[in-house]
Amino acid sequence: MNPIKFYQTQPIPLELHKVRIVQKLNLVPLDRRLLAIKDAGFNTFKLSTRDVFLDMLTDSGTNAMSDNQLAAMMQADDAYAGSQSFDKLQKAIQDVLGKKFILPTHQGRGAENVICRTFIKPGNVIPMNYHFTTALAHIMAVGGRIAELLHDDALKLQSDNPFKGNIDIEKLEKCIQEEGVENIPFIRMEASTNLIGGQPFSIRNMMDVRKIADKYGIMIVLDASLIGENAYLVKQREEEWKENPMEEIIKMMTSLADLVYFSARKLSSSRGGAICTNRKALYQKMEALIPLYEGFLTYGGISIREIEAMAVGLYETLDETMIGQSPEFIRYMVNGCMDKGIPMVTPPGVLGAHVDAMQFCDHIPQEQYPAGALAAAFYLCSGVRGMERGSVSSARDENGNEVLADVELLRLALPRRVFTLSQVMYSMDRLEWLFHNRRLIGGLRFTYEPPVLRFFMGSLEPVEDWPARLVDKFRKDFGDSL
Ligand code: F0G
Repeated sequence: MNPIKFYQTQPIPLELHKVRIVQKLNLVPLDRRLLAIKDAGFNTFKLSTRDVFLDMLTDSGTNAMSDNQLAAMMQADDAYAGSQSFDKLQKAIQDVLGKKFILPTHQGRGAENVICRTFIKPGNVIPMNYHFTTALAHIMAVGGRIAELLHDDALKLQSDNPFKGNIDIEKLEKCIQEEGVENIPFIRMEASTNLIGGQPFSIRNMMDVRKIADKYGIMIVLDASLIGENAYLVKQREEEWKENPMEEIIKMMTSLADLVYFSARKLSSSRGGAICTNRKALYQKMEALIPLYEGFLTYGGISIREIEAMAVGLYETLDETMIGQSPEFIRYMVNGCMDKGIPMVTPPGVLGAHVDAMQFCDHIPQEQYPAGALAAAFYLCSGVRGMERGSVSSARDENGNEVLADVELLRLALPRRVFTLSQVMYSMDRLEWLFHNRRLIGGLRFTYEPPVLRFFMGSLEPVEDWPARLVDKFRKDFGDSL
């Protein structure tokens, strides 16, 4: 896709779609926001969208659907078994991801459960570029461990490394030799490594991982939830792939993996998930778990309408004007914030703009969850709901000790084709105000901590009454503005 040049204006990411269905939003008053975040236990997951202006929590299940997806949903062939809609999905997965055996799952973590239960034994180790919360939880649930093998500089938040999601090949080989091939059921590669700021891997790197996998006879499992965006950035950043169509880049990545799974809430802008492979024996090992945990083999817990939308959404992933919209908005937001001195994760990744909370709130000790505090403070001053991706999102170790995260991020997700540029500019403006008033933000502590995936339902409280200070300053600067 050729970049669009402007005559006078600074280049801005131009929407190449029109909006035909709209949903009214409410920006509730400051006092209401203060009550809402208190009631939510300072955990943005527990806010009701009634109190949220721009929902930048996630792109999961919140991407805009196309007219063609909605039209396809009306053609759903509802059947418990043998639905023709599933045939369409099978064809779409074959055409886009190049895999012929498909197991549908209710969402991405359903796929992770089935894969982990099938292949991991207690004590096994899963080498990977970086974990995702649900993948880690499922690996731990069956007694496995992980080894994260990013390059040393990948956790440097401000960087010009275009592929921070790459696996360090030397570390991978060392890990295999130390842990023993027999203890490694598979290597997991995540496209556009979510938790470190949506950072892609290169095709060159995946080819190198494949060589090691072949040398030791280990499978590769690819988490393809964000494969479209990873492919988009490969096209922009990896010289050898600049001229190739999206289709070839995506197929190259999936062909290097033995098993591919994804959350269709991300890939294909629908709902559901799937595991796919060209190896019948692998498919057969997992098959029996689908009816047990998900649903019959031709729907896997997904509504048939969503299966229709998934099939269309998979083909749309190949359209650069669709898949590029979110990364281009993210780039605009990240670069704009960096220009104002706000510490962001660079290079701009996918899924959302990520604020470096450890730098933003360098006065808050990590034990007091700077990213969680920043998420709550940003909601207070803007009505925008972001997501904590730091130590609140970490899991305690097997002995119950707190494990502080490598990075503390506030993620401001930009789901595909959902927000307008003026909404993005509003968010940037409020974030700049908060940055100038950051010393008013204080820490948080847990008041209720669930044992698994605590970030979803946990409650926290401020260590002192900093929200009141922030609210006072907001009033002083903005008067009675919402
Ligand atoms: N893998 C990746 C890379 C993900 O980002 C997600 C979900 C999953 C697996 C699990 O899929 O939600 O369908 O069960 N990510 C969402 C997020 C929740 O907000 O980033 P799921």
